[in-house]
Amino acid sequence: MKTIALIGFMGAGKTVISKILAEKLGFQRVSTDEKIVEAEQCSINEIFAQKGEEYFRQVESRVVEQVAQQPETIIDCGGGVVLNPDNVTALKKNGCIYYLKASAGSLYESVKHCSNRPLLKVDDPQARIVELLQAREPFYSQADHILETDGLTPQEVADQLYSLISAD
Ligand code: S3P
Repeated sequence: MKTIALIGFMGAGKTVISKILAEKLGFQRVSTDEKIVEAEQCSINEIFAQKGEEYFRQVESRVVEQVAQQPETIIDCGGGVVLNPDNVTALKKNGCIYYLKASAGSLYESVKHCSNRPLLKVDDPQARIVELLQAREPFYSQADHILETDGLTPQEVADQLYSLISAD
């Protein structure tokens, strides 16, 4: 059975949905962010602050290359994974990519009280989300399947994903 990569913007619900889905499918779940933190022994905020985004992206690519090869795995991908075409190639080679697509408004609602997203630590995070989401849409659209998630609970999204995956 193929590897399943969940992609989407920060706050799209990839973490909670990947946990429900892994349980439903009996797959293992890995998170690229968790692997990066484990490898670097420091938080995402610290990596961005001390070593910069470029360094973070290098570590992220190494992690993607590694986890993309694991069978029967749900990969909870950091929101920027799709920016590097090599990552997309690696994920598609061994599996399918599912884009959890949400509006800027609902993404803002889910991240507005979080402080662990260095890219959103700006004066106007709402405007930043709109801007980044627009710039990234072509990258997210490379997914094999797109699921619109606004108004759905994580359980409902996981159920829809389960049906799609079973039909694939
Ligand atoms: C990022 C998303 C984050 C994390 C890092 C960069 C991005 O992951 O990888 O802060 O560029 O969108 P989540 O999407 O899990 O929040």
